[in-house]
Amino acid sequence: MPSLLERLGVELPIVQAGMGGGISRHELAAAVSEGGGLGTIAVNGAGAIRRELAAARALTGRPLAVNVLLPFARRDWFEAAAEADFVVTFWGAPRRRAGGVWLHQCGSVAEAQRARAAGADGVIVQGVEAGGHVRGTTPALQLLEEARRALPPGYPVLLAGGIADRADVRAALEAGAEAAVAGTRFLLSEESRAHALYKERLLEAEETILTDLFGAGWPAPHRVVPNAATEHWGDPPRLNRLLNHLLAPGARYAPPALQLRMTRAQRPGSRLLSPAGPTDDASSTLVDAGALYAGETVARIEAIEPAAALLADLAG
Ligand SMILES: Cc1cc2nc3c(=O)[nH]c(=O)nc-3n(C[C@H](O)[C@H](O)[C@H](O)COP(=O)(O)O)c2cc1C
Repeated sequence: MPSLLERLGVELPIVQAGMGGGISRHELAAAVSEGGGLGTIAVNGAGAIRRELAAARALTGRPLAVNVLLPFARRDWFEAAAEADFVVTFWGAPRRRAGGVWLHQCGSVAEAQRARAAGADGVIVQGVEAGGHVRGTTPALQLLEEARRALPPGYPVLLAGGIADRADVRAALEAGAEAAVAGTRFLLSEESRAHALYKERLLEAEETILTDLFGAGWPAPHRVVPNAATEHWGDPPRLNRLLNHLLAPGARYAPPALQLRMTRAQRPGSRLLSPAGPTDDASSTLVDAGALYAGETVARIEAIEPAAALLADLAG
């Protein structure tokens, strides 16, 4: 039987993960979709979602996904995202907010069951080895096995975390994943909008750490490559954590201009460290003062490649 992705016109079982704050915009998403995978746009705000989706549609006629981070999304973001072929949500109580095909990224079996009960068309199980914000504590293949046992046969379960080459994809598919979802591998593509110095740091990196340091407004664990900020703060002091929590309710409403000013002023020793990653249009100071999100696979990735070449390699 064709998979959910195949039924919707996605040829290859490869999904490029949404990478927030504008790391995955139309260039990357369109290149991945055009190559036969499913590309995902991840930007903040209804206007930005519409602009990026229109720009991607101009580059490819193939299906596209939009990622929506639930802690920040407002109603009009969902309306804009509903114009994509897939909406992928993350980090929050799963609830259907828009028509169309909806996938929810989960960190546990209980969360996957809640997403299915809420009407999700499929789930992405995210392993603890994943880059960016990390929802659960279980390795990806183990979580996949547990989720498949707990969910009805045939319910689409995709796997995120630990995907960097064709052997990883094959292992995920053999274990019953509908598709493999890769973030870090596509961050290190020519089309990703990560800052050039961020990409350089990742190519050099041999390890990642799980921290909650870059939590201003989003106090949640995330996997990063160490930099001057993580070295300065180590295990974040209680006051940092308290301030991050206090800011969380307002994060959804902070105007973009204020957020931009905050990230420009950010230094490795700043007590408030924003979750914004260093994009190619952000200040290069964020490379030492911001979050260098990356998954454990970063230690195995040695080159920046065009997305089409990555897809060909992953699909083998
Ligand atoms: C730079 C970066 C940013 C991310 N931002 C988001 C995001 O905005 N929304 C989301 O659902 N997941 C986000 N993730 C997590 C991915 O969806 C996915 O779980 C992860 O990339 C898989 O692990 P990998 O990076 O080792 O491939 C991000 C991951 C990275 C590396």
